[in-house]
Amino acid sequence: MENPYYQQHFIEIAQIKNDQQLFYLLELTEKLSHLRTEHSKELTDLLRGFTVAVMFYQASTRTYGSFVSAAGGLGANVIAVQDMTYSSSVSKGENLEDSSMTAANSWLADILVQRHPNDESSEISVAKLDTHSSNTRVINAGSGKKEHPTQALLDANTIFNRFGRLDNLHVAMVGDMANGRTVKSLSGLLATVGQGNKLTFVSPDELRMPPENIQALLGKVELSEFESFEDCADADVYYWTRVQREWFTDKNIYEKVKDRFILTPELAATFSPHAIFMHPLPRLNEISEAIDTDPRAVYLEEQMASGPHTRMALIAAILLENPFIALEKLGHIK
Ligand code: NCD
Repeated sequence: MENPYYQQHFIEIAQIKNDQQLFYLLELTEKLSHLRTEHSKELTDLLRGFTVAVMFYQASTRTYGSFVSAAGGLGANVIAVQDMTYSSSVSKGENLEDSSMTAANSWLADILVQRHPNDESSEISVAKLDTHSSNTRVINAGSGKKEHPTQALLDANTIFNRFGRLDNLHVAMVGDMANGRTVKSLSGLLATVGQGNKLTFVSPDELRMPPENIQALLGKVELSEFESFEDCADADVYYWTRVQREWFTDKNIYEKVKDRFILTPELAATFSPHAIFMHPLPRLNEISEAIDTDPRAVYLEEQMASGPHTRMALIAAILLENPFIALEKLGHIK
């Protein structure tokens, strides 16, 4: 199959049009993750000569560090600024477009990994770079409340590795569907790449999935919305999320809804022993720590480790026309 990611921006999950396109990346993820786990020295030759800029305008622990680790582990030069708002020229008033041009023309970045609070931030950077005929490609590492497409990739990788399929799965997403971007990107991906999936959104009425996201899912998955765990006992995946305090203008509403759904050992006991418990993290108190050692919990292990591995694959697929052949040339795979 031709590499669908080569020299493309990756800014919204709808860019993945079918299961083959996703599996191209998941197959590459598997190969790269093995090599990385073995501390393959040759792997650091794969992207030698390329430069990856990481510009974050919103807080992050995992996404930021895993992109730096992914690009560095493949031998790219990495220039990373974790708090653009305070420690870059943004603090002097520079706009997003000019900072993006800086990544391209001053930092000589082949890829700009960007996280920003504006829903349209990726589109804004892409438009500016394209206007100036830049070859720099943008990866959206989280844009406002709207998209977190690389989180969806790592989540799909985690689910696939556990179940061996992305079809006929019942995924219950719990918490903040209104402000959370991970659930929007993941539900979009599951609706596109899988057959017969069932999605159940469990949230307080104030935090329901926006109508435009629901609209986009209709006809592609079986969909339900509840304010309780009705019809959720048989789910394969419980995807828990944080109530996103930073987006609430009325803190009283936040206080009212923040602890509505907590995954406790008692609640977990009512769920299937074959299910998995996911969370994009950071977790506040919506999953009790007692769950961390439950064999169904993957958020501190497989899911977390999927982050750098899928991001290595995405970066390599954008920069190399045929990353599989490039790996063969390193003498690693047959
Ligand atoms: C998420 C995000 O930034 O959207 N974190 C992450 O990247 N794993 C989820 C969150 O902040 O709650």
